[in-house]
Amino acid sequence: MDRTTLTDLCQCPRSGEALQLTPDGLISASGHTYSVRNGVASFLQDLSGEQAAAKQFYDEFGWAPDAEGEFQETKAFVDTRTVSAEHARACMRRLGERYFSGGGKYILDAGCGPLVDEEVVAFGDRFERFICTDLSTRALNTAREKLGDRGIYLKCDITNMPIQDGVVDAITCNHVIYQLPLEMQAAAFRELWRVLKPGGVAVVVFWWNDAKLPWRLERLARMLPMRGPGQPEIHTPLPDLPHNTRSRSWFESKDWPFAYSYDIYNAVPQLFLRNYIPDDWRGRLFLSGLRALQTALPRYCGKHGLMPAIVFKKDSDGGGRVSVADKVLTSGALSFVEPFAGVAAAL
Ligand SMILES: C[S@@+](CC[C@H](N)C(=O)[O-])C[C@H]1O[C@@H](n2cnc3c(N)ncnc32)[C@H](O)[C@@H]1O
Repeated sequence: MDRTTLTDLCQCPRSGEALQLTPDGLISASGHTYSVRNGVASFLQDLSGEQAAAKQFYDEFGWAPDAEGEFQETKAFVDTRTVSAEHARACMRRLGERYFSGGGKYILDAGCGPLVDEEVVAFGDRFERFICTDLSTRALNTAREKLGDRGIYLKCDITNMPIQDGVVDAITCNHVIYQLPLEMQAAAFRELWRVLKPGGVAVVVFWWNDAKLPWRLERLARMLPMRGPGQPEIHTPLPDLPHNTRSRSWFESKDWPFAYSYDIYNAVPQLFLRNYIPDDWRGRLFLSGLRALQTALPRYCGKHGLMPAIVFKKDSDGGGRVSVADKVLTSGALSFVEPFAGVAAAL
């Protein structure tokens, strides 16, 4: 990693001061020092409780490969059968095409893990540099093996990133904030907003714990002559991983500094795929239908599906932006469309 990029992009996460290079890493005017080893700059302070447990989970288990080179986290939680994996990739690709095709200087993947998802790596094609941030040392080392010098690797906490205000053109943040302790989640959203550049866009894949669309889709799937293989047998108990999901009303009750709109990553969970999706033409047909619904009614699916993509854009004057289409849809037109979407999903 070109170390002068670090001084241009970063700031001290404790004092907000600029950073200077030293032979071992970086130093702030007040003397806070940060190491840079093997291309990874480390800004983590002491972790405790759930955050220490999350780091330990990912460093020792989640991002450790098994004998076939598959990450333990992927093996434990992700349906990797062909049809399900194609679906997940297409869902992510759609978000990239919709929000990141404008390109720019920096794209940030906040809580990047080891860049498991090729579609997310491809978001970076239109940007000069790909900033990877995560708690996990193993995740960042693996990300660096994949991206090499195109990447900037910052070991840090998403709620206190060592990145200057308003410098990042685009942010992707997938499956991270709902794993944070509840009391840190709002701070994480605000921190993403802080580093976003005027004119930039952030897309956060979140999780509603009161989503009704998966339940409706499950009713539909039960009526069809198709089943998946069910849940895999787990022979060794998995280490504990926090899963602190929220309701949509929690999100909407917050006084955010940004305006947001809803899109959808995937309306159904892995559990649904394993239970109802066969790895053949029937599963493919069902999931193409689901993606057609997600593409036609992204806001409806983002409100009621399991894993919304929460989108916020910063105006060139630094304010939040809701497009005219978003305003219309969140007021009158959406209430007109919703019942039809509901009926379609319940059929
Ligand atoms: C479920 S994984 C998702 C990884 C990646 N975004 C993806 O979609 O494959 C969650 C990631 O968030 C990271 N993480 C958890 N808490 C974090 C925090 N406070 N700051 C930064 N990263 C964090 C974990 O280390 C882990 O790599």
